Order: sequence, then structure tokens, then C-alpha cells
Amino acid sequence: MAFGWIEEQAEARRRAGLVRTLRPRPAESPLLDLASNDYLGLARHPEVTAGAADAARTWGGGSTGSRLVTGTTELHAELERELAGFCGFEAALVFSSGYAANLAAVTALAPHGSLIVSDAGNHASLIDGCRLARGTTQVVGHADAEAVRKALGAHGGPAVLVSDTVFSVDGDAAPLAELAAACREHGAGLVVDDAHGLGVLGDGGRGAAYAAGLAGAGDVVVTATLSKSLGSQGGAVLGPARVIDHLVNAARTFIFDTGLAPAAAGAALAALRLLRREPERAARAREVADEIHARLTAAGLRAVRPDAAVVSVRAPSPEGAVRWAADCRAAGLAVGCFRPPSVPDGVSRLRLTARADLSGAEIGRAVRVIGETRP
Ligand SMILES: Cc1ncc(COP(=O)(O)O)c(C=O)c1O
Repeated sequence: MAFGWIEEQAEARRRAGLVRTLRPRPAESPLLDLASNDYLGLARHPEVTAGAADAARTWGGGSTGSRLVTGTTELHAELERELAGFCGFEAALVFSSGYAANLAAVTALAPHGSLIVSDAGNHASLIDGCRLARGTTQVVGHADAEAVRKALGAHGGPAVLVSDTVFSVDGDAAPLAELAAACREHGAGLVVDDAHGLGVLGDGGRGAAYAAGLAGAGDVVVTATLSKSLGSQGGAVLGPARVIDHLVNAARTFIFDTGLAPAAAGAALAALRLLRREPERAARAREVADEIHARLTAAGLRAVRPDAAVVSVRAPSPEGAVRWAADCRAAGLAVGCFRPPSVPDGVSRLRLTARADLSGAEIGRAVRVIGETRP
């Protein structure tokens, strides 16, 4: 029977307690949200939703074609200019998702004969970029600049290092300055995914590369998503103009994909302008994360010290993590739950996201619920 193996796989997942299901979210949820990536609380900000609605009315429900045909509007160009300027890079290119942006950057910057050095904790979209690229991938230990140096030193041709800036599972930051130094010693490029850094790290949320003094460097490329701090949808690559021009000509997820929807571009642009006007939102998201971590630790829970807005709490087992998250939900709190196989290190955790718009009372309630429901 066609696809007969699907049931076998489903049964194995059931036995391992790893079945995933979709749960549609109502527009007005009574749950306290520590599960979304809306770090700055902008997804439903009136200026952001107005940006989306105005763009849809002006430019239409879709972008009507690939970016190189009819899918580039003046709005896309405006967003790219402002995003590049805000983060301190020469140029930017927006994509239909952060996932597509990562596939583009890695595949287009790692040609045949090149080496890709990839951190073991990288996001799935960077891993898939490595799988699709013509270059050869070498995975190195998590946040290990010395291992990066060694891998680059053993290779003769062009090379690139790819890493998250803030790792999505534990919320820890990559040692960007050390990684950049290792790359420079060997003339390698640095591609970093700032999905969890943009809007949270750096002066006014300008991102991790800006914070590390790497913004605008000729050998540094940043990828980002518009779907987290900017409360919209879509992705971006920022870097030197010659790199961006190369992506326009060589990146398959740019060339063969319909351009970012105008509503998403309009929402992201409105969020970016809001962030520029209200830079304190970035610092507040970090403050909330630190407070959640401090209170969890004081309650005797094992939480990783957050470098940005993600707080990870250890769970005793995959089943324990699932039960814990379900009990939190029953008590009115939405939290993320990470367990194998989405985490390669086999450690199960609750994943909490700090939001700049969480009140002290909400933080207190969240920590109390997590403590009371611990397995
Ligand atoms: C580190 C990281 N990179 C890339 C992505 C993908 O971005 P997008 O959701 O815009 O496709 C995500 C998550 O969504 C992420 O956490």
C-alpha cells in the first residue's frame, strides 16, 4: 500500500509519547501567554495591525509573484532600507519566512568545495541550509570557538561559519566576538541567525551582531525573522551590498518563492518604526526574562540564565515535560515544551518567553503556576 510506512512511524511515535497535535488558538484566549515569540508584545499593537491592513488595502492580499517578477513593491524596498539602517548593515533582503532566509544565506554562501562549520545547537532551518548547500558541513560542539578555529584551520578553500546568535532551546547566546575572531584568522565568512536577538539585544534592539560590534562588517551576514520581536511574518538577510546582490541572483528560496505578503511587510515596517521610537521595549524584554529566571531559581527550579528573552526550565523526562506543560495550561498558563527529537541533546524542558508587556503580577502568577505544577 502506498505510504504504508506512515502507520508504522505513527505507532512508534505513539509508543514513545511523541505525537504532536494542533490546537487552534481562539482570538481572545484566557491563557497567560509565555509560549509565543512575541517578545515585544507588538503582534496585536494597533500600529502594527494598521500597518498590515493599510498595506493589504494598498498592495493587495498577496505580493502577486516572485520578487524578481512582480513581487517587489515599494513597500518591500522601504522595509529593506529601514531594516538594514536600523541594524547597521549596508543592505537587506526580505523573504517569505526566516526559514527561507536561512536556506538562502547558507546555500548561496557555501558553494561547491567550500566548508560550512555549523554549531551543534543550530536551528533546524540552518541545519537544512547545510543539507541543501553544495559545500561540505562539519558540525562542531555547541558555542565552541576553539573547535571552530580548528575546523577552519584544517580546510584550504572558502569557508563559512553558521550559528544562531541566541539558541532557541536554552536561550543562551553564542560567543559572537570569539567566533568572529576565529573566522577572521582564517578568512572565513560568518553567518549568524539573529531570530531571537533582533528586537531584544543590542542598543534599542538592534540585534546581537550590533551588540558585538560586528554590524556592517564586510565578512558578517545576519539572518533574521520578522515573526518574533517584530510581531509579523517573514524573514530577512542583512549584510554587505555585494552579498545581498549575490543572493538576489543565486538564492533559490528568493528566486523561486512568491514575495513576502504586503500585509506582513507593512506590519514589520510599523513594528520597526515603533521600536525605533520606543527603544526601551528591548531592555524591558530582557529585564522580564531576568526576573522570571530569578524567581524560578528562588523557587528551587532549574532554569538556564537567559541571555535574551528565552527562559528554559529543565523537566525530568519527556512525559514529565508534556504533563507539566498541560498542567500549566489547565491552570491558565501557556508555556512551550521542548523534548526529543526536536532537542538533539535529549533533555526535555519547558520553554518560557519573556514579553516586554508582561506585568509584575503576571510574572508572579506564571512563576507560581510553574512551581505548583512541577512534576
Ligand atoms: C533560530 C530560528 N531561526 C529561524 C527560525 C525560522 O523563522 P520563521 O518562523 O520566520 O520561518 C526560527 C523560528 O521560527 C528560529 O527560532
